[in-house]
Amino acid sequence: MSKFTDILIDWYAENKRDLPWRETKDPYRIWISEIILQQTRVAQGYDYYIRFMERFPDVFTLADADEDEVMKYWQGLGYYSRARNLHAAARSIREAGEFPKTYEGVLALKGVGEYTAAAICSFAYDIPRAVVDGNVYRVLSRWMGIDTPIDSTTGKKLFAQLAQELMDESRPALYNQAIMDFGALQCTPASPDCLSCPLADTCLALANRSVDTLPVKQHKTKVTNRFFNYIYVRTGGCTFIRKRTENDIWKNLYEPLLIETDTDLSENALAFEQKLFGVLGETPWRFLRPVKQGVKHVLSHRVIHANFYEVVLPDDFETLEGYQKVAEEDLHKFAVSNLVYQFFSLILEPNNQKESKVCQ
Ligand code: ADE
Repeated sequence: MSKFTDILIDWYAENKRDLPWRETKDPYRIWISEIILQQTRVAQGYDYYIRFMERFPDVFTLADADEDEVMKYWQGLGYYSRARNLHAAARSIREAGEFPKTYEGVLALKGVGEYTAAAICSFAYDIPRAVVDGNVYRVLSRWMGIDTPIDSTTGKKLFAQLAQELMDESRPALYNQAIMDFGALQCTPASPDCLSCPLADTCLALANRSVDTLPVKQHKTKVTNRFFNYIYVRTGGCTFIRKRTENDIWKNLYEPLLIETDTDLSENALAFEQKLFGVLGETPWRFLRPVKQGVKHVLSHRVIHANFYEVVLPDDFETLEGYQKVAEEDLHKFAVSNLVYQFFSLILEPNNQKESKVCQ
C-alpha cells in the first residue's frame, strides 16, 4: 500500500463526517444517498435523504409509489431526472426481485454511471472499484501535478487508472470515502488549506505553485438563455397547471400557464398582452398584473429569465388547453421547480387553510 493511501486513511480517521449512509451496508440506502449527492452538497442533501428514507425505507416501497409522489419528495433538489431514473430503476429491481450484487448489475441501473456504481459497490459490498468524482480529480491532479484536462478522453482514462492503482484493495470502502472527504474538506476547489495538509510535502502542485490552476478543464459549459413568462390564471378559487413533458428541463414537474418567448418581454407590455390574447382567445380578462419581472434563474446549462403575471378570468372559465384546473389549496400537492415555487409563494398566502374546493 502506498504512503499516499496511508496518509489519506489516517486523515479520514481524524476528520471524517458522520453521515447516516455511512452507517449502513444496505445497497438501497447507499444508492439513494449517492444519487442525492450526485449534484448536491451534503448540507443540502442531508434532510432530503432522511425524509426520503422515512417514506421509502426499501426499494419495494419506492417501486410501489406513484412517480408524482417521488417527484414531490425531490422538490427543490434540482436535476429531476435523478428522481425519475431512481423510480424507474426501483421498478426494474422489483422485477428482478433483489438489488443487483455485481458492479455490472449496479452499473446497468438507470441513472447509475461508473462513479455511482463504484461508490455503491465499494461501500455496500467492498468490491475494489475506485471512485472518480470531482473530488478525486482535484486531489489527484494536484498531488501528482497533472494538467491533462479532466474532461478529455485521455484525462478520464488517465485519472481512472491512477485512482485504481492508488486504491487500497483490502479496504475499498474506507479508501473511497477517505479520498472523497479529503477532496470535499481539505483539498477544496477554492482556497484549500495547504498549510495544514498532511500531503503537503509530496504535493507537486504545491511545489509548482499550480494548486489554483488544477484540475484543468478544456470545455467551458455552454449556457443558453430562455425567456419564460409564467401566468397565474385565477378563476374563482382555482388555477391551471400542467405537467411538463418536454425532454428539456423539469420534465414531469408541474407549472402554471407558460408562454415562452425569444426575447424578454418585461419592457413590452403590449407584446405580452398579444401573446396572452393568443392563448386565452375571446375570454375577457378582468384583471392582469405583473407580479414580478426580471427573475434570473440559473441552472447548469441554462439561464431562465422569468416574468411572473397574474390574470383574473371569470369564475366560470373552465378549460385551458393542455392544462388542468386545480383548487388553489391543492397546489402544494404538486411537485414544482424552485422557480415555480417562488412564483406560487408570491401569489398564495402561506398556510392557505381554506376548505378544499372542487374544480371541474
Ligand atoms: N458525495 C458523494 N457521495 C458521498 C458520500 N458517500 N459521502 C459524502 N459525500 C459524498
